[in-house]
Amino acid sequence: MLFGPPGAGKGTQAVRISETTSKPQVSTGDMLRQSVSSGSELGLAAKVFMEAGELVPDDVIIGLISERLKMTDASNGVLFDGFPRTIAQAEELAKIADVTAVISIEVPDNSIIQRIVGRRMDPETGEIYHVDFNPAPDSIADRLIQRKDDNESTVRNRLSAYHSQTSPLAGWYDQQGLLIRINGNQKIKDVGDEIAHKLLSNKNSESS
Ligand code: AP5
Ligand code: MG
Repeated sequence: MLFGPPGAGKGTQAVRISETTSKPQVSTGDMLRQSVSSGSELGLAAKVFMEAGELVPDDVIIGLISERLKMTDASNGVLFDGFPRTIAQAEELAKIADVTAVISIEVPDNSIIQRIVGRRMDPETGEIYHVDFNPAPDSIADRLIQRKDDNESTVRNRLSAYHSQTSPLAGWYDQQGLLIRINGNQKIKDVGDEIAHKLLSNKNSESS
């Protein structure tokens, strides 16, 4: 599971972890954005919360995850990105799946706004870029998009939702011995290297 504030780098790091562990990335944010663009009833309901930077209600999220875990590619485990985000979601998850590791990417609030406002997405590949920290190649510059919730005022609400509703989960998983703390305030590659190193030592200590 990847855990951390908005803009911590969960989506950025998920690609590499998914490749090395062969577990599919399951991002509730991406699933909700797909529902919003398909215009489904669930998407219409979720849109209001997402654009305000508030959490979507727990029952909606639990429903999405229960369905996703029934799919065949989830049978050997998944990499959650941005789920769970409340203690209630984590309690529901514990009833249907075992959590083996929680990778907490830690980034101070003062770095978050610049990351979020400068983020650009490639709608064709889903690739995540940043105007300064990870610029896209010129050849695709014209098709890049910006997420609707990637503006300064919404991100302040997302940060406040994170601190009040989501960050208590770090202590909850730490008590269970599952939390792996990562310094997210370093270069993208260095964050990835620290995750790879700590995941490996975590695996070795489990098997010894
Ligand atoms: P979601 O899509 O999950 O958004 P989020 O948690 O706010 O996280 P982000 O996707 O914004 O950030 P990230 O950590 O993935 O960072 P990224 O790698 O892109 O959720 C959106 C909304 O959906 C929520 O607000 C809520 O409404 C709803 N929702 C979703 N899940 C929910 C749930 N479980 N319960 C209830 N509601 C839910 O990187 C960000 C930028 O920084 C990029 O530009 C990247 O290039 C750059 N960057 C990354 N790493 C670095 C680095 N090390 N140095 C410099 N720049 C970096
Ligand atoms: Mg993300």
